[in-house]
Amino acid sequence: METAISIKNLSKDYRRLRAIEDVSLEVEAGEFFGFLGPNGAGKTTTISVLTGLANFSAGQVRVFGHDVLTEYRKTRALIGLVPQEFNFDPFLTAKQILTYEAGYFGVPKRQAKERAEELLGFFKLTEKSNDGYKKLSGGMKRRLLIARALVHRPKILILDEPTAGVDLELRYQLWDFLRGLNKEGTTIFLTTHYIEEAEKLCSRIGVIHRGKIVALEPTEALVRRMSGDQVELYLKKEMLSVPEDVEAIPIVLEDKGRKLRFEERDNAVAKVLKSLHNHGYEIDRIDIRRPTLEDAFLRLIRDPKEKAAP
Ligand SMILES: Nc1ncnc2c1ncn2[C@@H]1O[C@H](COP(=O)(O)OP(=O)(O)OP(=O)(O)O)[C@@H](O)[C@H]1O
Ligand SMILES: [Mg+2]
Repeated sequence: METAISIKNLSKDYRRLRAIEDVSLEVEAGEFFGFLGPNGAGKTTTISVLTGLANFSAGQVRVFGHDVLTEYRKTRALIGLVPQEFNFDPFLTAKQILTYEAGYFGVPKRQAKERAEELLGFFKLTEKSNDGYKKLSGGMKRRLLIARALVHRPKILILDEPTAGVDLELRYQLWDFLRGLNKEGTTIFLTTHYIEEAEKLCSRIGVIHRGKIVALEPTEALVRRMSGDQVELYLKKEMLSVPEDVEAIPIVLEDKGRKLRFEERDNAVAKVLKSLHNHGYEIDRIDIRRPTLEDAFLRLIRDPKEKAAP
């Protein structure tokens, strides 16, 4: 399979701050890859390096085999970038924003105009074609950012939090749109704080935390590795402290001791049920739910010990 993005031992410093430390990751052509991490983790910095907007201190970064430093124009043209912040030229209309961008990538004028009109139509911005971006609503600006990223038909689409501040309906539309684009062969590299969104869309996930990669694997495998089923057990009377025989299980007591929350690992449910029975506690209800990517993500970010798990 062809490698779309290859980052090897990348480090990047902003003066004394090490924003990225020894990051290595690859994205195959045709993949839908999710790049997650808390605020300040280094996601946008990584994207800036990929798109040639930032230099770096060490490592090698390639896009479809081309070096982002020595073959900048080639690699940049392979990528459509939806940046985290709006960075439109305030003096251009929506349509000009698209045609100028196409021109920058060498699309002939006539074709640029056609594509701009097509994309404006697709993203329901035709009515705003002749308006400056400041006259657009937040969601419209997001749509224009995505349209602009696509105007030169890139092989890779990199989206840095494309659904921030986007309403529910538009978000669902964007999901469908991105799925379709990916099906047709576009490689997608998505950053988002909506973990559920990544879980729905991405087949593989990388998690970055304080500049370092802490997880890199298929979405389902990551969820399973990081977290067992989530158990919530409701008692008929309150429990003041967890019985000694199940102390080894990390149980959280909630609702003034009426609710026990823990994870199904090493037969925890069976052990807890036995202990409750032996101590005369009656159970009102028990809920068990499958873990989500959010459970896995929170654990990776909160508990550094888990990073070493196989
Ligand atoms: N231009 C810059 N100059 C100095 N430091 C910077 C610059 N850009 C980013 N940083 C720092 O680098 C680190 C990583 O920032 P980055 O923007 O990559 O995070 P992020 O993962 O995209 O976060 P967010 O989810 O908040 O967008 C942060 O500590 C940030 O303050
Ligand atoms: Mg960012």
